[in-house]
Amino acid sequence: MTEISRAAKALQEGHLVAMPTETVYGLAADATNPDAVARIYAVKGRPADHPLIVHFSNSDLITKWAAEVPEYAKQLAKAFWPGPMSLVLKRTELAGDFITGGQDTVALRVPSHPVALKLLSEFEQLGGLGAAAPSANRFGKVSPTNATAVRAELGEYLSSEDVILEGGDSEVGIESTIIDCTTETPKLLRLGAITADMITQVTNREVARGGSNIRVSGSLASHYAPNARVVLDQVVSPGEGLIALASEPTPDSVIRLIAPVDVEGYAQQLYFALRQADALGLSRVVAITPKGEGLAEAIRDRLQRASF
Ligand code: TXA
Ligand code: MG
Repeated sequence: MTEISRAAKALQEGHLVAMPTETVYGLAADATNPDAVARIYAVKGRPADHPLIVHFSNSDLITKWAAEVPEYAKQLAKAFWPGPMSLVLKRTELAGDFITGGQDTVALRVPSHPVALKLLSEFEQLGGLGAAAPSANRFGKVSPTNATAVRAELGEYLSSEDVILEGGDSEVGIESTIIDCTTETPKLLRLGAITADMITQVTNREVARGGSNIRVSGSLASHYAPNARVVLDQVVSPGEGLIALASEPTPDSVIRLIAPVDVEGYAQQLYFALRQADALGLSRVVAITPKGEGLAEAIRDRLQRASF
């Protein structure tokens, strides 16, 4: 039996699987099993009223979980699944309160990472309908973007029957774009690699932003935070960490955490840099934020939350 098949079976039996995705690593459980999902909350130390994203491999499963799928949501699913986008839709009864935090909506995503897709499709062959998976970090901490980070973050809380799957470094590096599709126009709840422009291009609709009363833990002011103090666009001093594009020089005695050549690289390496800052015991990290719209905005959003 391959490692992925073993993991699919573990899901079916109610255990947890740390699953690589193209955004960040997730901590997956059978989304129809309340006991398994309860363990996600326990392992993450996350408040139980925070809703989870349900992941599956086959886009057709959307109708199992969503009671209403507006035309523009179908267009988005067709254009960007599998990929770094989660859609919030009116739920069916299958989406229990233990998934939705008692709300009448559910968040759904088809990830594109080959290991995630294989895991989910094997789980579906065993009768699974979806895997609930928050990022595989302790509540409020930095999302892991490789299996080593998952082990460091959650290893001590997992049981011997849970599985951590290897899948290399996540390609996108920050969490999926979350789009509320319960209103006339799509509304961005969390910024990510699928940008407002891309959404408008596919749906021909303006995109509304934020202002939702739906609980999105990733939208709490302080989130994605390392132990080091993160400050934005300030002067960096000797002994401090620096996160910036490669075009930014490294002053003497400053610890250069990452030097990505473009915004995509910046997103991909950002959480690694924040983890590295803690591994090195740095007390202060200066991040020079990338300019521009789209993914750069998503990076600024995560850096702002890390800086509280
Ligand atoms: O990229 C991602 O989305 C990763 C990977 C593993 O797929 N997952 C992830 O999950 O970031 P998590 O739980 O760390 O963040 C999911 C966010 C939470 O902030 C949650 O509040 C929001 O999705 N969410 C879930 N269901 C929702 C709903 N029905 N309405 C609004 N927001 C919802
Ligand atoms: Mg998270």
